Amino acid sequence: MTILVTGARGRIARSLVQQLLSNGAKVRAAGREPAAAQLPEGVEAVAADLADPDTFGPALDGVAGVFLYAEPRGLDGFVAAARSAGVRHIVLLSAIGASTDSADPIARMHGEAERAVAASGIARTLLRPGGFATNTLSWAPTIRADGTVHDPFPESHSTPIHEADIAAVAARALTEPGHEGAVYELTGPESVTRREQADLIGEAIGQPVRFVLQSLDDHRESLAQWGPPEMAEILIEHAEDSVGRPARATDTVRRVTGRDARPYAEWARDHAPDFTGGSSRPR
Ligand SMILES: NC(=O)c1ccc[n+]([C@@H]2O[C@H](COP(=O)([O-])OP(=O)(O)OC[C@H]3O[C@@H](n4cnc5c(N)ncnc54)[C@H](OP(=O)(O)O)[C@@H]3O)[C@@H](O)[C@H]2O)c1
Repeated sequence: MTILVTGARGRIARSLVQQLLSNGAKVRAAGREPAAAQLPEGVEAVAADLADPDTFGPALDGVAGVFLYAEPRGLDGFVAAARSAGVRHIVLLSAIGASTDSADPIARMHGEAERAVAASGIARTLLRPGGFATNTLSWAPTIRADGTVHDPFPESHSTPIHEADIAAVAARALTEPGHEGAVYELTGPESVTRREQADLIGEAIGQPVRFVLQSLDDHRESLAQWGPPEMAEILIEHAEDSVGRPARATDTVRRVTGRDARPYAEWARDHAPDFTGGSSRPR
């Protein structure tokens, strides 16, 4: 039976496709522009948009399991179509703290996605990762330009997780029995500050990276590209709250996959080309 990976261009999706393929699974990747995903040979690509029900049919035909992004538009329609198509298991990429009651719009959006999947009645596994290591790819333009990171919170802690570890948990959940109903809180293995992350990127690229204290106004402006102003305020609040406070790490990646979660230093080495002008390949 086929496994459908949605959001083909997504970083987790690309890693998951690679991992499922290496495990011998039959994989179909769906995205709005599958050609842009540069899928490996052996993967069936279909054009599908989670917000457009007319595109679901060919994507879901003969599918047993789905890896699903928490796309807020159209998820109810997608899971209803999945149920009609006979899908038996959905692995949802949610987020830590997901809740329909949360005051945090990011947590609420993921809570709504979890609600939509639960309402479908299809067996589900919820992946609730914390902050992604890939968030620091937003530093790449200034690191490439002049070796600097601009941010107001050098001592803010997080436990950044490698996209390949989220994908590894998803791959297990989609190919082994026993993950139905599970809720997996996923983090990287250790708490690091933003300044330490910048230093680790410097080590990975073999050139020092200098941390420049950014004003809050400039920071708000740079966060505006990721979403509405209220989202920027939530991200700033989280960063302020975690200044000088080591973040909690879970052992879920090890428990589910049998191997330790990859430290940020490894992520920085894997992504060194992104910080020097090339582009990294999915793992
Ligand atoms: N960042 C965090 O710290 C964090 C924490 C917890 C949870 N999450 C969840 O994880 C998700 C992000 O996962 P990710 O890092 O794998 O995703 P990503 O690389 O940011 O891609 C997300 C989706 O955006 C679309 N996309 C990618 N590149 C695009 C482009 N150039 N133009 C237009 N659309 C593009 C893709 O869908 P198509 O192939 O259909 O275009 C893809 O599925 C978030 O949306 C959130 O739900 C994030």
